[in-house]
Amino acid sequence: MRGLVAAGGHATRLRPLTYSLPKQLISVANKPIIFYVLEDLASAGITDVVVVVGPHSADAIRETVGDGSRFGQKITYIVQGAARGLADVVLVAEEALGDEPFVFYLGDNVLEGGVRYLVEEFEREKPNASILLTKVEHPEAFGVAVLEGDRIVRLVEKPKDFQSDLALMGVYLFDSNVWESAKQVEPSFRGELEITDTIQQMIDRGLTVRPHVHEGWWLDTGKKDDMLEANRTILETLERSIEGETDESTIEGRVVVESGARIVRSQVRGPAIIGAGALITDSYVGPYSAIGDRCVIEDAEVEHSILLDEAKITGVRRVTDSILGRGAHVSRDEGTPRAYRLMIGDLSSVGVV
Ligand code: DAU
Repeated sequence: MRGLVAAGGHATRLRPLTYSLPKQLISVANKPIIFYVLEDLASAGITDVVVVVGPHSADAIRETVGDGSRFGQKITYIVQGAARGLADVVLVAEEALGDEPFVFYLGDNVLEGGVRYLVEEFEREKPNASILLTKVEHPEAFGVAVLEGDRIVRLVEKPKDFQSDLALMGVYLFDSNVWESAKQVEPSFRGELEITDTIQQMIDRGLTVRPHVHEGWWLDTGKKDDMLEANRTILETLERSIEGETDESTIEGRVVVESGARIVRSQVRGPAIIGAGALITDSYVGPYSAIGDRCVIEDAEVEHSILLDEAKITGVRRVTDSILGRGAHVSRDEGTPRAYRLMIGDLSSVGVV
């Protein structure tokens, strides 16, 4: 079985971060989201993976992910000319994937327990497709499946009226019958070639599409709060490991301090991760914080936040529920008159007190 990962798209809901960094490369618990996807595929025994990238994300993703050897995989990259939809992602990979069945995994999804059991079942029982579903509070934001017992009655993308609260998660297994159905799909109301319509097409052809209802957590990292929630959930799984220096500091609970990080006269309360080369001085880092490599926190309090590499917070109490982009800087301003002095990018959002 092979793997196909969707790593293009626009990610408009995560601007301004995604102006300069593809969403799939944003770190959650100090690891780019797409790494979780590739690691999950690797642990399901999938070593041959096609990653579909967009024209703007191509270089950054290639550079960060590499040839796949760090995951024990061989990765082939394909550029999707424009974000025409998930059925198009499948179609642009047709030649590279050939006739072998594959797992189609959205590059911004993380799920508890992984896909191994699904892959094993697919190989054993050979349905034509297999989909993962989970209960959600806002089905209108997803594709949903209407079930009757174990049978899928229909699939609807972004339903306007309530049809079902079982959302399609971003993981699909297909055999080569998917190609014919994907080619017949017409653009949807949002102008995209939908994978949901492709699967509906397979059902209409009388093919076997097997639903699985997922019980564990599932993280779809589309918006800021989803990112923070993903960060919180993954940090919960952390095991304590202190490799950096922590002199005169209190390190409580499940905290990872990576090598080369220094924590001076500070308090860190887990779960939290402090990246390589970070410097924390006279500060408090609270639960659910992921502090990236070479970040600086000085005379400040931070919790429930993600700081991407080289971000800096000085003299501020307290930063919470926040995401700082690479090299971003938040500091106390001592100038007069007392005021907020900002230089923020397009479509940024800042909450002040
Ligand atoms: O997350 C689950 C949902 O994913 C499903 O419930 C929906 O049925 C499915 O259509 C999809 O909905 P979204 O609207 O959330 O998909 P999004 O546009 O966020 O794209 C998902 C991933 O695929 C994301 O990493 C970007 C990438 N992508 C997207 C498009 C449209 C591509 O690589 N190429 C594309 O053309």
